[in-house]
Amino acid sequence: MAANLDGRTAVVTGAAQGIGKAIAKRLAEDGATVTIGDINAEGAAAAAADIGHGAKGMACDVSDPAQVDALIESAAREGAPDIIVNNAAVVPFIAWDDVDLEHWQKLMDVNLTGVFLTSRKATDMMRAVDRKGRIINIASNTFFAGTPNMAAYVATKGGVIGFTRALATEIGQYGITVNAVSPGLIESDGVKASPHNEAFEFVGMLQALPGKGQPEHIANVVSFLASDDAGWMTGQTVNVDAGMIRW
Ligand SMILES: NC(=O)c1ccc[n+]([C@@H]2O[C@H](COP(=O)([O-])OP(=O)(O)OC[C@H]3O[C@@H](n4cnc5c(N)ncnc54)[C@H](O)[C@@H]3O)[C@@H](O)[C@H]2O)c1
Repeated sequence: MAANLDGRTAVVTGAAQGIGKAIAKRLAEDGATVTIGDINAEGAAAAAADIGHGAKGMACDVSDPAQVDALIESAAREGAPDIIVNNAAVVPFIAWDDVDLEHWQKLMDVNLTGVFLTSRKATDMMRAVDRKGRIINIASNTFFAGTPNMAAYVATKGGVIGFTRALATEIGQYGITVNAVSPGLIESDGVKASPHNEAFEFVGMLQALPGKGQPEHIANVVSFLASDDAGWMTGQTVNVDAGMIRW
């Protein structure tokens, strides 16, 4: 069932491809006017053209405060955007012995500081016009699994989950909700082009449901969290991983 997001605006970061693109497409189909922000400017424009429904593509490195401010401002209607989906991330496959400070810092800058920057700007704008907005962060079930070859990445995703909880606590009084979606292994463009693509058989043995996770599986849940139906949910992290992590 499509959520009715008619008249709302949404920003989806890292949506030139993969899970982000599927989320942007779904929110646009739900009625939102979507702005894609991606470090890949050409990819952002191409994804927006492909999605249609008035979607726009913008160049944005989520670790750059000025670029983030411009992205969030561009999606304002009457002073603020309605929905922010923090999806952009660097997803590495790197053994612990090769993790140096440069790699660690890069992952922190993009995967965690990027979420802070969009949230800082968006919540300031939302509060200024009493907008009961939505922030949806894409985490990862690797945080719960402690997946190898991703130490810095897993640390950033733990940070995203912690930040989701704490920000929800602080801004709930303004009617703004903050939730996270935690995907399992998903057959995204990024995964298909990396060694993670070899992990589907192993991960499949850990899942309760058979099959390969698809970007649309994540977009469906983001659509729900952006909808009015999710208005009584905040500070939560929803695992969408075919039951790999059960609690
Ligand atoms: N695919 C999976 O199995 C999986 C599992 C768990 C969580 N996730 C999370 O889902 C999200 C999307 O993953 P994906 O597999 O679709 O990734 P992907 O690699 O296919 O796409 C990532 C996108 O982010 C963009 N990006 C990278 N750095 C950026 C920056 N500094 N600023 C703006 N954009 C930037 C890239 O250009 C790309 O378009 C990420 O947050 C990832 O951590 C993915």
